[in-house]
Amino acid sequence: MELQFIGHSSFYIKTAEHGILIDPFIEGNPVADFDFNAHKITDILLTHAHADHFGDAIPIAKKTGATITAIFELANYCAKKGVKSQGANIGGRVKFPWGSIRLLNAVHSSSTPDGEYVGPPVSIFLEIEGKKIFHAGDTSLHSDLKMIGDVYLPDVAILPVGDFYTMGAEEAVIATKWLYPEIVIPMHFNTFDVISADIAKFKKKVEVDTSAKCIIMNPNDVLTL
Ligand code: NI
Ligand code: MN
Repeated sequence: MELQFIGHSSFYIKTAEHGILIDPFIEGNPVADFDFNAHKITDILLTHAHADHFGDAIPIAKKTGATITAIFELANYCAKKGVKSQGANIGGRVKFPWGSIRLLNAVHSSSTPDGEYVGPPVSIFLEIEGKKIFHAGDTSLHSDLKMIGDVYLPDVAILPVGDFYTMGAEEAVIATKWLYPEIVIPMHFNTFDVISADIAKFKKKVEVDTSAKCIIMNPNDVLTL
């Protein structure tokens, strides 16, 4: 599979027959240059409803016919906007033709751009083609990350490092220790001034303190897994 970074917390995963968008914040994202019309999109996965994650989920789902999978309340909100959606909840495995996901605890908040509270925020744990990818969404450091490392054994951990709204780089090093993935990918930094981070410093520290290799992805970089 190919894992493409769109920018901020937005990723595109391409398998042989499917295309999965996570947190598709594209229009209005100062670092993104991704034309969804040029990619196959079958599924959209959302960690929560803040504008920098929910992004263009509704227009993309309308245009492509992709199904949005999210926490139950957010999925219902999407259904009311006239798109196909699937409501899941925390901890259960949800199967797809391309693999499976689990929504797991994140510590953050989640309201839509028009101010509606739509259930808790989540991290997303994906299993695709034998690889386990943990996309943390927006979250603080919290002790469930230790459980997720012990129980779900992610190969790849994608963690926010920008501070202010989420954990910062120092906490992301601790989270990496707890998750012990082979690869850690930082996200949610440098999109806006308020979440600026010294990413070279993070890479150095996380590679000294943990066994993970840090891959810094620039927008549109593709990692083959
Ligand atoms: Ni948020
Ligand atoms: Mn965010």
